[in-house]
Amino acid sequence: MHWTILGAGAIGCLWAAHLQRAGVSVSLVLRSPERLAQFQARGGVSLIDDSGETFCPLSATLAATPQPIAQLLLCTKAYDSQVALESVWHRLTVDSRILVLQNGMGSQQQVIERAGNDRVLIGSSTDGAYLRAPFEVVHAGHGETAIGRFDSTDATLPDCGPHFKLQLRQDPAIETTLWRKLAINCAINPLTALYGCRNGELTTVPAYTRALEALCEEFDAVARARGIPLFDGPLRDQALMVAHTTANNYSSMLQDIRHQRPTEIEQITGFLCNEARLAGIDVPRNRAALQQVRQLQHDSGTTSSPKTLPN
Ligand code: PAF
Repeated sequence: MHWTILGAGAIGCLWAAHLQRAGVSVSLVLRSPERLAQFQARGGVSLIDDSGETFCPLSATLAATPQPIAQLLLCTKAYDSQVALESVWHRLTVDSRILVLQNGMGSQQQVIERAGNDRVLIGSSTDGAYLRAPFEVVHAGHGETAIGRFDSTDATLPDCGPHFKLQLRQDPAIETTLWRKLAINCAINPLTALYGCRNGELTTVPAYTRALEALCEEFDAVARARGIPLFDGPLRDQALMVAHTTANNYSSMLQDIRHQRPTEIEQITGFLCNEARLAGIDVPRNRAALQQVRQLQHDSGTTSSPKTLPN
């Protein structure tokens, strides 16, 4: 089965490289002729991991081409997913399969509503990857991709061939897995973006730790009200552990701010605030963080630190 990858960010390039290395037919969809020309000059993606740098030759097309898509990997930024899906809609058939692999929550449900539950698998990845340059992906941390369906019906893993090296796991509770990742992202990402700090500083600067704890307490209350089982202990313990083990990392949200790209704050803290509203729970610290990251995004390039702490 041919894989078509929509979203040539870190995860898209990581999957493209691994599928190509596994001998699976794969191509990228690029959205502008300029980007396509840039890609064609390279002729593939570079994968940088423990075993060095590997060049993986593959092809790319524009969204508008007519070839039908058998297996789509949708891994654009979450806020782009609807526009991206529409751009290839004419290429999807009743037999097309879509794997949605995005941060945050909300975009998965939108894809299901548009394409129908039967065609859509939802994934959540803990692989750490970033782009060193366009189409050059560094696989910095080996994780796994949990895959399932929101309605918990059978989610047979998509066919990536027997030699595919990324770790995949069938997940009958993918929605809970997404909530857990959302919880960690809600705790770490907005604060690192606002303080302009590495993840580790959330564990070593007392004011930052207190801010993280306040966000986590509110998240725990919303999860309880929604009946979502998060972690064995309070979210704060888990979030501090992740911040500690990724101490040297700059979170994806801080990187977005620094590169003057829109962040996924609406799909992360924005989603949580909306769920809180529906559950009748006040989450003032998270609402403040949402507003401040929106403001930072608006000012990005001119502001790199918060005017006030969100606590
Ligand atoms: O979004 C990120 O950057 C990561 O999910 C995490 C866990 C916050 C670590 O940097």
